[in-house]
Amino acid sequence: MKHLIDSMDLSLEELESLFELARDIIKDESKYNEVCKNKIMGALFYEPSTRTRLSFEAAMLRLGGQVIGFSEASSSSVSKGESIPDTIRTVGSYADLIVVRHPKEGAPRYASFKSPVPVINAGDGGHQHPTQTLTDLLTIRQTKGQLGNQTIGICGDLKFGRTVHSLIKSISRYEGIKFVLISPPELKVPEYIKKEILIKKNIPFIEIETLEEAMSEMDVLYMTRVQKERFFNEADYVRLKDTYILDKEKLEYAKKDLAILHPLPRVNEISEEVDDDPRACYFRQVKYGMYVRMALIANMLEVV
Ligand code: CP
Repeated sequence: MKHLIDSMDLSLEELESLFELARDIIKDESKYNEVCKNKIMGALFYEPSTRTRLSFEAAMLRLGGQVIGFSEASSSSVSKGESIPDTIRTVGSYADLIVVRHPKEGAPRYASFKSPVPVINAGDGGHQHPTQTLTDLLTIRQTKGQLGNQTIGICGDLKFGRTVHSLIKSISRYEGIKFVLISPPELKVPEYIKKEILIKKNIPFIEIETLEEAMSEMDVLYMTRVQKERFFNEADYVRLKDTYILDKEKLEYAKKDLAILHPLPRVNEISEEVDDDPRACYFRQVKYGMYVRMALIANMLEVV
């Protein structure tokens, strides 16, 4: 049984095959409308979500399957003190696949040890968000025509941003990737990611503090939110939350074919005036997220 806990759990060949399936679903969704008939997905969200939960649910429904679960742990027996392994064993008795989001790093892996069915990590604390990375990679691939040979700018909360950690790990496997890492000193990429991925694999990267410094060099700009929920101290959040705001003026220096991504939700970090710029990909990205999750579910349930 295969789980998806870390963005590195999928080989490059497996990624390619998922993207190919996602593209085929986009081309003719009707071919896949019943492949998950009689299958049930459990969606256990211990932490709030709009896109991940609803795109997983929409994906399963569009494949002809059904969904059970909770969007708040307080509405389940978790509120009575039930452990993650007990909850997973129980839901695994009803469902064929379980999607878990949890505020604690490592919780989905812990859940997978006791699960009788495959588990997908839908985001664990400030650690990993592998299905967001599938979304991001498919968006870059569809927009830029390739995944390698690009300069990827990543801006915002690079310390707690789980989507950032998963994306760096995964896209580093493609040839010719360079990173421009833009953050305040307090929110830099964790040392373990720099040591284990960037330095170990000799991947060029620079760390800077302003968007303007490298705007003209980037092929992809991945904006992220400063995440209030990860801060221990409200004053630090308030001080850092509006450090970066991408607007039309800053984009004047950007490449004409820059792709602007954001995992969403955004707060202030991309001005709404950018939404109509042809380089803004973040709402298309949301839709790719649903298609790639359709491909992932169908693949993990071995129905295609
Ligand atoms: N990108 C993302 O994980 O969004 P949600 O928190 O709304 O699921």
